[in-house]
Amino acid sequence: MGDTYTPTSGVKGIKQSPPVDFTKPYDVAWLKDKHIIITGGASPEGFGAGFVRKWAAAGASIVVGDINTKVGDQTVRDIRKETGNEKVHFVQCDVRDWLSQVNLFREAVKVSPHGGIDCVVANAGVAGIEPLQMPANLDVPEPKKPNFKVIEVNLIGVLYTVHLALFWLQKNPGSKSCSINTDPSTNKRDRHILLVGSLASIGPIISQPLYGTSKHGVLGLFRTLRASSFIDGCRTNIICPYFIETPMVPTAGRLILAGGASGRVEDVVDAATRLTADSSILGRGLCIGPKARVKQEGDDFVLSENGEEKAIWEIYADDFVDTEIFTQRFIRILNGIASVKGWYGFGRDAFAAIKYGIFG
Ligand SMILES: NC(=O)c1ccc[n+]([C@@H]2O[C@H](COP(=O)([O-])OP(=O)(O)OC[C@H]3O[C@@H](n4cnc5c(N)ncnc54)[C@H](O)[C@@H]3O)[C@@H](O)[C@H]2O)c1
Repeated sequence: MGDTYTPTSGVKGIKQSPPVDFTKPYDVAWLKDKHIIITGGASPEGFGAGFVRKWAAAGASIVVGDINTKVGDQTVRDIRKETGNEKVHFVQCDVRDWLSQVNLFREAVKVSPHGGIDCVVANAGVAGIEPLQMPANLDVPEPKKPNFKVIEVNLIGVLYTVHLALFWLQKNPGSKSCSINTDPSTNKRDRHILLVGSLASIGPIISQPLYGTSKHGVLGLFRTLRASSFIDGCRTNIICPYFIETPMVPTAGRLILAGGASGRVEDVVDAATRLTADSSILGRGLCIGPKARVKQEGDDFVLSENGEEKAIWEIYADDFVDTEIFTQRFIRILNGIASVKGWYGFGRDAFAAIKYGIFG
């Protein structure tokens, strides 16, 4: 099999593996001795700490970077005790601050058992009451400057994390460019970025425009990194959980969800573990929702008492084929124009570009 999987009539060269086969078991032991950075892993009931707990129990070495030192120190101490794994560390880090993240990666390399970093999980995030859709006070001459903390943490912070990850993952000694032909049971050194999006990455989230914007941005980052992974050899995957009851979801949020359904942290951990442990998975996105019995009817899924239990769904599985038919057609037209212009056209445009660079 080639180094990449090309969906039927898809865009060639995208480093993407075939749709995730959920019937195929993965082994969490594949994470043994991998060195992993997780941002936002302090909150004991949050996703990050869930990843640390499971992966530390499997023998991974982990560095948690979080703004909350008191809680982070305690969580790491508890997990060391629970798992008997001493290779779990805490580094205070505010993801909004570039130097703070530089320090997190430096410290992580210092404590790495093999001198490199195999995986980076950009998990830190915030949500809350947002300024853009507060009831407007129209009795003032103009609104105050809004606070964009949600964007700073969830988007700028993730971009800093990814920028550092792309550097350190390529420097990971003994790691190779990602490939779908990798055997995850023997592939010791990895180059994996796991992004944490949300259902708000693929749909609207009412009254949370900044959160929705930040998570759409994370999805855009995922799709771009996936398309350009031939440059750096790093594999990128994304999880997009629906509402899950962690400290991020306040009472008001839980009240809005009352009578509906929310997902479970353990299913989020399961999805993230599969993507992280199985190094042959490249460029895939998983959505995690409430566990439900469903069966397939044609192209659709419907609730059914006799159906299979399912909480994890593939999204953007073949977006270059289905969701992005427009993009595909457009790229085909662009490629067609380039081929009509040929080498003569390339030379003429390149000459014009150089001339522009010199004379403006
Ligand atoms: N809980 C949900 O319903 C849900 C759904 C979809 C996506 N998510 C995403 O999952 C991720 C984890 O959220 P969670 O539900 O586990 O919430 P959580 O509140 O339990 O954990 C978030 C962690 O991020 C840390 N953090 C916040 N600001 C930080 C900063 N500036 N620098 C470093 N660390 C910082 C917090 O201290 C905390 O430990 C977030 O990116 C969130 O947007 C959550």
